[in-house]
Amino acid sequence: MTNKPSILLTGGAGYIGSHTFVALIEAGFTPIILDDFSNSKPAVLERLQRITGQPVKCQQGSVADVELVQGLIHRHQIATVIHFAGFKAVGESVAQPLKYFENNLGGMMALLNAMQSTTCRTLVFSSSATVYGDPASVPITEDFPRSHTNPYGHTKLVCEDMLAAMRVANPAWRTGVLRYFNPVGAHPSGLIGEDPAGPPNNLMPYVAQVAVGKRPFLNVYGNDYATPDGTGVRDYIHVQDLAQAHVAAVQTLLHGADSFAVNVGTGQGHSVLEVVRAFEQASGKPVPYQIAPRRAGDVAQCYADATLAQDLLGWRAKQTLANMCEDSWRWQSNNPDGFV
Ligand code: UFG
Repeated sequence: MTNKPSILLTGGAGYIGSHTFVALIEAGFTPIILDDFSNSKPAVLERLQRITGQPVKCQQGSVADVELVQGLIHRHQIATVIHFAGFKAVGESVAQPLKYFENNLGGMMALLNAMQSTTCRTLVFSSSATVYGDPASVPITEDFPRSHTNPYGHTKLVCEDMLAAMRVANPAWRTGVLRYFNPVGAHPSGLIGEDPAGPPNNLMPYVAQVAVGKRPFLNVYGNDYATPDGTGVRDYIHVQDLAQAHVAAVQTLLHGADSFAVNVGTGQGHSVLEVVRAFEQASGKPVPYQIAPRRAGDVAQCYADATLAQDLLGWRAKQTLANMCEDSWRWQSNNPDGFV
């Protein structure tokens, strides 16, 4: 019988958590999901069972429930926690900052409290390129100054700082901070993918809904940026590559490496219009668009220098923009109404 370390995934039923769940099983781990389904649907569990061919271990509940989390860590002898659970809509965070402080900061505090009462001191955290604020240049390296431009970004930055303070207080803590750039795409089975509630805030799911006929056209937020075609440039990363980055982060920490904070991107930028064209190609459907004013808070360009993740984790992104669009389209066209 091989030893399969147990990994607790807070928010594991969500978009990135569910893809990471599959990747962890394939890598020989035993993932356990904790999710309150506030921004995910229980229907994902049956899909995960179909993909992995085994029953899905899932506890419904909140990461803020310290006793529940303590109990899970003890019962499953959790080796590492991956903390995905958190709200992530930038605009909503501006309108309702307290909701973000309470959930994202309160959730992290409760999790650290729960872990502190156990022997588990290894944590991987879903951070974001948003911690670089409005970067002075691209590509972005991990030593760029951190700042924030909205309450959501502020919570990511403070969570990173909380982890740093825990490490100072007790060097037994080992933490892996993954700064995601723009996760897109879906599992190649078409069984799981991103299922935003209401109109998508992010580009790729919006484009997918236009291609499938759910929305008439895309608003392109600005075509007068200082970029090759005037539209915003981002580092889109396939969620399958991102899932593999979590596996690499867990393996690296469990092998005794020091704490780290790394960019998780491809190192390549693509404009909004490039994404539109790639999606049309992948789907064979037109994606009508109109040029709209710039969206408040957007930056012209944001893409990673992804070499540190390769050096420290032995991980690098492999999938192309075409792959991302093909998989996103398979998910969208097979599940036009998401998980139902
Ligand atoms: N865009 C459009 N139309 C849309 C949606 C987006 O033109 O309907 C454009 C944006 O202006 C931007 C690009 O597409 O140029 C990407 O926008 P997204 O909303 O998909 O992604 P962002 O880069 O704005 O935001 C992402 C994450 C945030 C995170 C931020 C910075 O969604 O959580 O990166 O790291 F804070």
